[in-house]
Amino acid sequence: MARPPKWTPPAHAPLDPRSQKQFVNPLPIPPVARPAGADGMHYEIPIGEFRQHLGIRDPKTGAPLMTTVWGYAGRYPGPTIEARRGRPITVRWVNALYGASGPLPHRMPVDTSVHMAPLRNWPASGVPTVTHLHGGHTEWQSDGDPDAWYTPGYAQKGPLFAKEVYTYDNDQEAALLWYHDHALGFTRLNVYTGLAGLYVIRDDWERSLGLPSGRYELPLLIQDRSFYANGELYYHALAQEPSHPSPSVLPEQFGDVILVNGMAWPTAEVEPRKYRLRLLNGSDSRFYRLGFSSRLKFIQIGSDGGLLDAPVELTELLLAPAERADVIVDFAPLRGKTVLLLNDARAPFPDGDPVDPRTNGRVMAFKVGSTTTKDESRIPDRLRREPIPFLVPTAPKRALLLWEGQDAHGRQKSLLGTVQDGALHWNSPITENPALGATEVWEFYNTTPDTHPVHIHLVHFRIMSRQKFKADLDEKTGRLSNIRFTGPPLPPPPEERGWKDTVRANPGEVTRVIATFDRPGRYVWHCHILSHEDHEMMRPYQVGPIGETPSRSAL
Ligand code: C2O
Ligand code: CU
Ligand code: CU
Repeated sequence: MARPPKWTPPAHAPLDPRSQKQFVNPLPIPPVARPAGADGMHYEIPIGEFRQHLGIRDPKTGAPLMTTVWGYAGRYPGPTIEARRGRPITVRWVNALYGASGPLPHRMPVDTSVHMAPLRNWPASGVPTVTHLHGGHTEWQSDGDPDAWYTPGYAQKGPLFAKEVYTYDNDQEAALLWYHDHALGFTRLNVYTGLAGLYVIRDDWERSLGLPSGRYELPLLIQDRSFYANGELYYHALAQEPSHPSPSVLPEQFGDVILVNGMAWPTAEVEPRKYRLRLLNGSDSRFYRLGFSSRLKFIQIGSDGGLLDAPVELTELLLAPAERADVIVDFAPLRGKTVLLLNDARAPFPDGDPVDPRTNGRVMAFKVGSTTTKDESRIPDRLRREPIPFLVPTAPKRALLLWEGQDAHGRQKSLLGTVQDGALHWNSPITENPALGATEVWEFYNTTPDTHPVHIHLVHFRIMSRQKFKADLDEKTGRLSNIRFTGPPLPPPPEERGWKDTVRANPGEVTRVIATFDRPGRYVWHCHILSHEDHEMMRPYQVGPIGETPSRSAL
């Protein structure tokens, strides 16, 4: 098999983010996806490469620059799929990423032995992609398993299962989900280059609440990126890839330009009234501690998987990669003023995250106008018809491991595993195998120095507690023994008591979640720092008997 073309850094210098004027680009709102057929239930979404203006300007002349990106239906972020609870849809995800002229991050050398990358002879055959609906209660065949990737025209396929027409049942609460690439070993690159879009599920209950809606509801997909001075994407983490001579740190990717809905440091013109902001952190590695430059509050009404029991008032909002927050903000007190949404530099989270208050410490601006029509929207005290259920485990709990160490080549590596077996690889046999319909507690023992956002496919879970612990760690295997709890189990704060699919697991703590595994098949759980996920911080799991659905080794 041919090796990928040798990567040579482009002649352009990286863009100095301070050369860019902030808050001059209007906030784009991704258009709603149009169904392909008259019944409104079928979509056809091509995945391709194109150039788009992301708000980056020539540092010398100020002329707007174009960026080569990948996207769904010809735009980045992709069009928003508006779904209704109880109405299934299908999407044909057409891979048109022939990619021979792919954007810069993709021309870097991919170390296949370490990266789990499926292909050695790309991009000649086109780029592998597979689309996952994050937060979706999806049948396993449509979940976008990392091994179910395919290249354009099905020239090559992953080992698990590949099809391009996916079914989404939408048999879940109203919530903001998102779709993004999930190809094995390529996810961080494919998402970095633009493969992400929003998916909103709505239902009658939510509509009956009278929350701000229509133009008073703004989706905000926050992603950090870096650029070359010619406007092309620059992939910082290159220096940390294992093919680099001294990869002493775990690969992570932090950008110095903040994009919201694909636009650098944009401005939204708002009226002095309540808005519903649907926030999503779609970054690779960056955590955000969001706050306003003036004393505005967030009233959080929902989390990853639906509405909270009751609104929670916050001045700071912590969002790890893939986490969502559904919030109401009332701009009425700021009539005629401009307020900035900031990322607090006090929060170096996880460690090594460079926050510069002048660049990536800023997210966007809201320019509050002076007039509005009467604001009839409400924030009810009670957001749900019935409180979020208290789940009772029906099976023994699973003690799982987050581990970081060095591989045989002295390279930093992070893996998941179990407390009993230690660190396990992507291809190690499945260890998490809930029975169909089981309600289980999963405990994440984080033995690493970083906070990792742990995501479980298929289910929404409730966070039960976080607790400090000490244990004896076998250096070689990662096995944990002699676990001692050094603090009480702490319940999550009110804003984390709703349905979640991604949870921050802090270092030195065990984080406990509980979920009902109610669809059979093979799924995955992983760290949602995409660079970690791509470097094997990901494990398959299976609901129901192994062998009933083909496992990777069986194919
Ligand atoms: Cu948002 Cu498995 O991913
Ligand atoms: Cu997911
Ligand atoms: Cu991680």
